[in-house]
This record gives sequence, structure tokens and C-alpha cells, in this order.
Amino acid sequence: MKLFSKKHKKQTAPMVVPTHIAIIMDGNGRWAKKRGLPRTAGHKVGAEAFRTIANYAKSIGLKYLTVYAFSTENWKRSEEEVNAIMDLLETYLRELIRDMDKNRVRFCFFGDLTRLSPELQAEAAETMERSKQYDGVQVNFCLNYGSRAEILRAAQSFAAKCAAGEAKPEDLTEEGFSDLLWSAGVPDPDLIIRPSGEIRISNFLLWQSAYSEYYFTDTLWPDFGPRQLDEAIEAYNHRSRRFGGVK
Ligand code: IPE
Ligand code: IPE
Ligand code: MG
Repeated sequence: MKLFSKKHKKQTAPMVVPTHIAIIMDGNGRWAKKRGLPRTAGHKVGAEAFRTIANYAKSIGLKYLTVYAFSTENWKRSEEEVNAIMDLLETYLRELIRDMDKNRVRFCFFGDLTRLSPELQAEAAETMERSKQYDGVQVNFCLNYGSRAEILRAAQSFAAKCAAGEAKPEDLTEEGFSDLLWSAGVPDPDLIIRPSGEIRISNFLLWQSAYSEYYFTDTLWPDFGPRQLDEAIEAYNHRSRRFGGVK
């Protein structure tokens, strides 16, 4: 499906929706602070923003949506905040499982889930298993995700194969390495969006983003909706992707 933004009304060329969009869902805490609310209130509204964006992504025909929900570094936060985020995730996953037939979104998880509570791990596994049947947008939910941890884990698993005599170091290709990452089988993101005004990637998809287009916006994640996604897609449509070649 093609998008037509307001700014584009005069133009005839419709916008092309990229295959894979990744989003760093940042700015929940600041959103809450601005309103004199606890940080957890921001995470709650941020979860709603995610729900809206996932449904919108499906409606515009996006194939893959990868969202950064909790990083390997986010454990540094207060126990109170981490617990609140984990509780929210549990509630959220339970609702997802309940409404699965209505939403028809396929879910995948990137990250080391073994550090999560047994309940959360079970819910993530059930979400993934039961949603396999849907062929709308695939949402990759990054939970306890860190790109360095992902790369290290891939390197360790290949090294273990070599040590066991099942592979030789020179056999490893870029494609083969990609297949050892949590994102195995998912095409690299075309567009990576970071709301909240920060201009950094905070350990997100370092390998996969080699040729991704970046889009930064000051909008805080809880305020990010379909209009902001349209704007990001519009900006993407004005980029010239050359992949090292010449156009
Ligand atoms: C993103 O919002 C959510 C997580 C990292 C879990 P933040 O909580 O980082 O919000 P800010 O950056 O403090 O505003
Ligand atoms: C990145 O946001 C991680 C998530 C949104 C899940 P952070 O708020 O953790 O990133 P920094 O600390 O500003 O780099
Ligand atoms: Mg942040």
C-alpha cells in the first residue's frame, strides 16, 4: 500500500513504504516528567503508542517492524522502575495473547529472554508460537536486547562449531553470520527511527544497520503516532540509497 502525506498532496508520486522499519522507543521518562507524573506513567503511555503504531504498520502494509523496548543496559535503572517496566510488559503480553485473533500480528523476540521472569518468558514463548500463523506485519520485540551481546553470542556460537570440528573459520560469510543473530531471516532495516531528540543508537542493530537510513525526531515516544510515522516515511522517500554505488 502507498501512503500520501499532506505535504505530498501536490505531488503525483505516491510514497513507498519501506520493507522494514526499526524504532528506538525512547522518551517515556521525559514525557512523564513534563507532566509531573512518575516515569512509569510514561512507560504506560509508551506501551499504548506501540500498540497504535503496530496496528498502523499493519494497515500500511509494512512487512517488518522492530522495536527496542528494553536494552541490556536498562537494568542499571532503579529496581522500582525495572519492576514497573517488567509488570507492564507482562500485562501487555497477556493482552496481546488475548487479542491475537483480532490483531493478527506475528511476533518475534530479539534478546536474551533468560534473564526475564519465568512468567514473562512463558508469555513471550506463547505469543511467538501462537502468532506464527499470521502473515500481517511481523513485529520484532527487542527485550533485554543489546547489539553487542547479540554479536558476541553469534561469534561464540560459531567459535564453538569450529572447536567441535563442525566448521572452519574461513567458512564464515556475512550471510552466515547474519543467520547467527537474533534477527536471522529478517531483512536489514531500511529505516531506523529514534524519537526523543537523542542522536545516538544506544547499542541497537549495529550489524544490521550498515546501510539503514536514520531518522531522528524530537517527538517523545508516547506522543509518536501514525502522523509521525508518515513523516518519517516521507523523509525516507527523499533519501538516495546508493549502497556504495553510484546512481
Ligand atoms: C524508553 O524511555 C523506555 C526504556 C528505555 C525502557 P526512557 O525511559 O528511556 O525515557 P527517557 O529517555 O528517560 O525520557
Ligand atoms: C534506548 O533508550 C533503549 C530503549 C529505548 C529500549 P535509552 O534511554 O536506554 O538510551 P540512552 O541511555 O539514552 O542512550
Ligand atoms: Mg531514554
